Amino acid sequence: MSDIGEENDILAYGSIFCYILEMCGIIGYIGKKQALPILLKGLRDLEYRGYDSAGIALINDGKIERVREVGKVDMLVKKIDGHKFPGNIGIAHTRWATHGGVTEKNAHPHIAGEGKLVLAHNGIIENYRELKKKVKGPFESETDTEILAKWIFLNYKGDLSQAVKKALLSVRGTYGLAVMHADHPDEIVAARLGSPLVIGIGKDEYYLASDVTPIIPYTKQVTYLDDGEVAVINRKDLKIFNLKDEQITKGITKIDWNTEKAQKGGFETFMLKEIFDQPTVFEDAIRGRIDMKEGTAKLGGLNMSPEEMQKIKRIILIACGTAFYACMAARYAFERLSGIPTEVDVSSEFRYRDPIVDEHTLIFAVSQSGETIDTIMALREAKRKGGVVRGIVNVVGSTIARETGAGTYIHAGPELAVASTKAYTNMVAILLLYALQFGRLHHTTVSTGQRMLQELLEIPEKINKILKNSDNIKILAKKYKDYENFLFLGRGVNYPVVLEGSHKLKEISYIHSEAYPAGEMKHGANALLSKNFPVLVVMTQNQLYEKIKSNVEEVRARKSEIIVIATESDKSAKELSDDIIYVPKTMELLEPLLNTIPLQLFAYHIAAMLHRDVDRPRNLAKSVTVE
Ligand code: G6P
Repeated sequence: MSDIGEENDILAYGSIFCYILEMCGIIGYIGKKQALPILLKGLRDLEYRGYDSAGIALINDGKIERVREVGKVDMLVKKIDGHKFPGNIGIAHTRWATHGGVTEKNAHPHIAGEGKLVLAHNGIIENYRELKKKVKGPFESETDTEILAKWIFLNYKGDLSQAVKKALLSVRGTYGLAVMHADHPDEIVAARLGSPLVIGIGKDEYYLASDVTPIIPYTKQVTYLDDGEVAVINRKDLKIFNLKDEQITKGITKIDWNTEKAQKGGFETFMLKEIFDQPTVFEDAIRGRIDMKEGTAKLGGLNMSPEEMQKIKRIILIACGTAFYACMAARYAFERLSGIPTEVDVSSEFRYRDPIVDEHTLIFAVSQSGETIDTIMALREAKRKGGVVRGIVNVVGSTIARETGAGTYIHAGPELAVASTKAYTNMVAILLLYALQFGRLHHTTVSTGQRMLQELLEIPEKINKILKNSDNIKILAKKYKDYENFLFLGRGVNYPVVLEGSHKLKEISYIHSEAYPAGEMKHGANALLSKNFPVLVVMTQNQLYEKIKSNVEEVRARKSEIIVIATESDKSAKELSDDIIYVPKTMELLEPLLNTIPLQLFAYHIAAMLHRDVDRPRNLAKSVTVE
């Protein structure tokens, strides 16, 4: 899905656009069976991706019939109830808004040509304004998808697939799309650029979907569309072209997953899938939000003029759980780049400590769910005292998004595992962008800003590199899984990293672990050290490297086993440790984005080997809506 409601939004959250490419779901069917039940089941199978509205369109008797509804697929089913929608060709869509109205009019599929052409689309059309000038209104929705439908229709001269290919040549942005035309009741045209689509191959029938989940009940033979490809699907055959109209031969993949495994993207658990989602969703978080020329960020959702930003004298970040550690990790950047004193507080403490807040204090309420009661109450307290409150949340339209009215969506997509991973990374990313945006109004130079942005752009590739090491981390996990206690050590930006790493281990493996700032060991924690108390140290090469090295020497003298997270090719870290996990080098302020990932994997593999219910650890909930 994608919205262009930025001008119309009540909330300023949009900042730029919806860039979530993965969350919305497309399903299509063409064959001999009735399409309606297949589409509705398909929508249900895709609901795990998140949804706020859904819609279907079928061709029957040379006419397109369409139904859309806000809410769960059940609401759509209720609306359809009693009506027959015969037809054996159709497309459907579940939408997961990232900003903009959750309304029936914004739900897909969208129509053009007085109902002749219908389109379901995931992604974002960046040059929708340009295209809007070329097509005719009126416009029913606030979406760029409707403009794209009209644009394809304008290019239509009797051949649907040619119209799609021609229209897409002048489209900038990303899409996974499915189009039908009432005069072509034997054809679905699909295209992909940046947003996945897979085609299921049956006997004289084809299925089309955003992932294999809704397809596998019917067929295990699939073809994945690649970027820049257009599929022309009719009952008898499937042809795939590039945008230059050259036909391409594609292989068929056999899928042997069941539905549950497919929803997890082939991973054993949602948590592992979400860990591996991080490079992609990180790109979604920063896309369109950086201004390389000025070396700054452009988070319009802040909704403050540079003059108003200049008046901010204090920043407070409030959150719970993993979101709190994300705030701690970003605090260094706020202070170093902007020079604005920045505090971080656990929401449940902040709300009761009679905090000192005035109109020059900016409070960011940071939350994945946007429903955590302590954070809601804390932001209300901050508002009551006259503070400027903004939200940084994942779930669109959640209570925190509504009550703050302005802020930024982190675009991590639905996070289903209780233990937060990808939301953490995207929270840190957004907070770092805010730190830079404030920094550029103070003493951060354009070149420092540019360097930081360049480093941010390289993060997804570096995360990928760490993820490739997952099997080696699994070997370590096997060695350490039976210890009853762990100590995590870090300094500076890596102190919050170890807090989060230790938190992750506790949450999902139930092993007791503590995190300490390494320099503080001598004031207490040293007493714990023994052979049976492994210590995990994050000691990447930053300004505190030499300091933490001496702390590790002290640990070594007490015979604890030492696992070290170190910068690639750091040989002396290897000499100090029993086991080592290397991470790529990045700018110090960005280190939490990388250094947390091996700790997520370490905790994950230990928990999985101990047969814990990794996605649903005991006594914990994904969203804590009671005090
Ligand atoms: C619960 C979850 C954590 C999460 C915390 C804050 O404890 O189990 O994973 O970090 O709440 O949730 P929020 O939705 O506000 O980020």
